[in-house]
Amino acid sequence: MAGKLIMHAVQYDRYGGGTAGLKHVEIPVPTPNKDEVLVKLEAISLNPVDWKMQKGVMRPLFPHKFPYTPGTDVAGEVVGVGSDVKNFKAGDKVVAILSLATGGGLAEFAVAKENLTVARPPEVSAAEGAGLPIAGLTAHQGLTQSAGVKLDGSGKQANILITAASGGVGHYAVQLAKLGNTHVTATCGARNIEFVKSLGADEVLDYRTPDGAALKSPSGRKYDAVIHCATGIPWSTFEPNLSANGKVIDITPGPISLLTFAIKKLTFSKQQMVPLLVTRDGENLDYLVKLVKEGKLKTVIDSKHPLSKAEDAWDKSIEGHATGKIIVEP
Ligand SMILES: NC(=O)c1ccc[n+]([C@@H]2O[C@H](COP(=O)([O-])OP(=O)(O)OC[C@H]3O[C@@H](n4cnc5c(N)ncnc54)[C@H](OP(=O)(O)O)[C@@H]3O)[C@@H](O)[C@H]2O)c1
Repeated sequence: MAGKLIMHAVQYDRYGGGTAGLKHVEIPVPTPNKDEVLVKLEAISLNPVDWKMQKGVMRPLFPHKFPYTPGTDVAGEVVGVGSDVKNFKAGDKVVAILSLATGGGLAEFAVAKENLTVARPPEVSAAEGAGLPIAGLTAHQGLTQSAGVKLDGSGKQANILITAASGGVGHYAVQLAKLGNTHVTATCGARNIEFVKSLGADEVLDYRTPDGAALKSPSGRKYDAVIHCATGIPWSTFEPNLSANGKVIDITPGPISLLTFAIKKLTFSKQQMVPLLVTRDGENLDYLVKLVKEGKLKTVIDSKHPLSKAEDAWDKSIEGHATGKIIVEP
């Protein structure tokens, strides 16, 4: 369209292709629908779901339309609003979650639903805010809804295991769990043990040692809940470490974990496998942003990459060795 503003974006136009499948393009700045805000992006955080979708893990649901601009977790400044938008105006700093169906994150501008957009106070940088949506909400949902931890500390004491505690979800999970009445055991690689302790974990296991691989608590505790952020650990490894009513909350549920979930249900087992898919929730996102503002939660940045080098961020996420969140900056 004549006169339409053009922006830089990174897209892929088919399933597969990995980093080489990413293309730098110039496309029109999107127009907000009546319930949407237009955000000039300052930071985007990547999640494994971004490259897993490209691999076709959710085919044919997501993406169902190509070309697709990946990335859902964004922070920036509102530069335009739809006619029904009440709570935001141009100039407001925000954090938002975009829809997986439409994506739109790896770009200079994106449109976000008003109800999935939250205010970002000056104490929270764009990168710190952009880290929160998928990873922070998954950690929050797993702990509060699936494991029943009360983040005001009012609940009954619980022993929690967090696997892959150095990653995007895990590093938020450790910090959030410690807001509740919990004892936290965590697993990570040797290089991150001190880091994970600094987040508040009470005991930390190197996952490459025999005790770490066996998930054995050094203080002999049985876990009431596991926030399972790693992959490839069988139920038989969890079982001897669980309390009588222990639950494994699996955030990467594959066929084996779904089968275990069904078997545990059908046999009325007190120990359970709980598959978790994150719910995009503006209220909980707002709560997380406020925790960061108050200094009760931090986003640890693994690395920052300019949008012109989004491939480096994509590679880094695929490698699976991030400590905290991977950020892209337009
Ligand atoms: N269900 C949902 O809605 C949902 C939402 C968010 C994420 N997820 C899934 O959850 C998983 C974690 O996501 P993420 O963003 O946290 O990933 P991430 O940031 O890429 O995780 C990387 C971290 O995991 C550590 N790690 C890898 N294998 C480990 C193991 N066996 N034991 C201990 N630590 C290990 C790595 O440590 P080293 O470098 O030392 O190996 C690295 O620090 C992914 O599979 C993702 O797709 C699901």
